[in-house]
Amino acid sequence: MRGIVLVGFMGAGKSTVARIVADRLGLPCVDLDNRIEQRAGVSVSEIFSAQGEPAFREMESAELERLLAEPPSVIATGGGVVVSDANRALLHCIGRVVYLRVSAAEAVARIGDAATRPLLAGAAGTLAATSLLDAREALYRASADVTLDTVGCTPEEVAVLVVSSLEEETS
Ligand code: S3P
Repeated sequence: MRGIVLVGFMGAGKSTVARIVADRLGLPCVDLDNRIEQRAGVSVSEIFSAQGEPAFREMESAELERLLAEPPSVIATGGGVVVSDANRALLHCIGRVVYLRVSAAEAVARIGDAATRPLLAGAAGTLAATSLLDAREALYRASADVTLDTVGCTPEEVAVLVVSSLEEETS
């Protein structure tokens, strides 16, 4: 079995859905941001503020490359992983890429306090989310084997959609 890679905007539910899908399929669950934090010994926000976004992106790409050598798992990526051409190619080598689509408004509502999301922190959260999502939408779609609309869905409902999309692929 190939891995399953969840991509999508901040607040799309990637981490929660990955845990549920991994449980259902009996696969390990990997959260890319957690891996980066564990290796760096500091939070994603601290990496952004102390070293800047380019340093974070390098760490993100390095973690993706490491996954290539690991057994299949369900992987929750960070929302900006699709911005790099090289990352998008890597995602496909790692597994089936599932885009969890969410609207900017719902993403902001789900995130609540944006303090842990350096790209959305500050008063212009909704505005920032709208323009960032607009800029990335085509990249999410281009990187995905399947796109699932998660607006109005609970993580459990989205997990069911993810698992059914795999069954459709193999039937
Ligand atoms: C980012 C999304 C975050 C995290 C970092 C950058 C982005 O992950 O990787 O703050 O560029 O969209 P989540 O999508 O899990 O919030």
